Amino acid sequence: MTTDGLCLGIESSCDETAAAVVSPDRRILSSIIFDQTVLHARFGGVVPEIAARAHAERLDLCVAEALKAADVTLDDIALIAVTAGPGLIGGVMSGVMCAKGIAVARGLPVLGVNHLAGHALTPRLSDGVPYPYLMLLVSGGHCQFLAVNGPRSFTRLGGTIDDAPGEAFDKTAKLLALGYPGGPLVEAEAAKGDAKRFAFPRPLLDRPGCDMSFSGLKTALRRARDEIVAEKSGLTRADRADLCAGFQAAACDVLAEKTRRALVVFRERTGVPAATLAVAGGVAANTALRAALEGVADDAGARLVAPPLSLCTDNAAMIAWAGIEQLADGAEPDAAVSARPRWPLDADAAPLLGSGKKGAKG
Ligand code: KG4
Ligand code: ZN
Repeated sequence: MTTDGLCLGIESSCDETAAAVVSPDRRILSSIIFDQTVLHARFGGVVPEIAARAHAERLDLCVAEALKAADVTLDDIALIAVTAGPGLIGGVMSGVMCAKGIAVARGLPVLGVNHLAGHALTPRLSDGVPYPYLMLLVSGGHCQFLAVNGPRSFTRLGGTIDDAPGEAFDKTAKLLALGYPGGPLVEAEAAKGDAKRFAFPRPLLDRPGCDMSFSGLKTALRRARDEIVAEKSGLTRADRADLCAGFQAAACDVLAEKTRRALVVFRERTGVPAATLAVAGGVAANTALRAALEGVADDAGARLVAPPLSLCTDNAAMIAWAGIEQLADGAEPDAAVSARPRWPLDADAAPLLGSGKKGAKG
């Protein structure tokens, strides 16, 4: 089954309430995101109950706005694609209920989409990248290398065994009292600092394969901070900047080196070299990381594709697009779709130890 018509996408697995209208010829007619950052900022992280309530209150408004911005009505919609997991269960359930409600009322097919598949298929929506390609997904809750073989075929080549990099950026910002979300704030501080002052560890670089670890880096940062505070009873601006610069350099080194290895593993597992290295997730916004990955891709003769930030971070256009691709690939719409808090993309891969402790955001 394919859809000639438009797909309405719905996303609510973490702290963005999002709806979008996308066409099978890769046009994004609208992509609306109601951001919840202000609701969570004073807690320094996403509070699941607050997120779930905010989704439930605003999903219908978000959908209405997406239809209006696309200048269409539900009569023009041929398919509903909704994030059915993984994520914070209250939010995922809100989205699934909203999708089912519209589907029943309008007699529309509804497809439950894996949030991570949405991220992983984004380079096809943004750049029409052909299969197979290597995907590095780096966000606040996830960090993994995927061989993307088709709309429903993903091979996980490696990933974090503990924290996700975005989580480490956020914790660094919290430890240095910079604010939330931490990534952009740490990046701005790092630009002013000396990355060589602190010798932070590059965990797991001495081990083969492309699994990663970021929790030791976070501990090293806390220790370095505590030592300075004990010595001088406070941090100067320069201390903060140097800590951020050292942290960011270590995180980028680990991601770049492991990407180098993932390109080798990709070739071993798929039998072909990766023509494209794609990166998505909020941390892909980091300029230093992009530059490092650009170098890795160049060395391997691959093209680096980093979709625009609005498509890298959580959004519903990626969910709508994944729905369109997966329907064409034979996925069956299911009026009884249910929410799944855990849903690995590659069911055959051995579970990672932590795979991002929040485990909720992709
Ligand atoms: O993909 P995303 O919007 O949400 C999910 O986690 O799914 O990613 C958010 C994460 C946060 O942890 C944020 O601190 C991080 O991406 N981030 C960055 C930057 N911008 C956002 N990390 C490093 N550098 C940045 N410029
Ligand atoms: Zn995500």
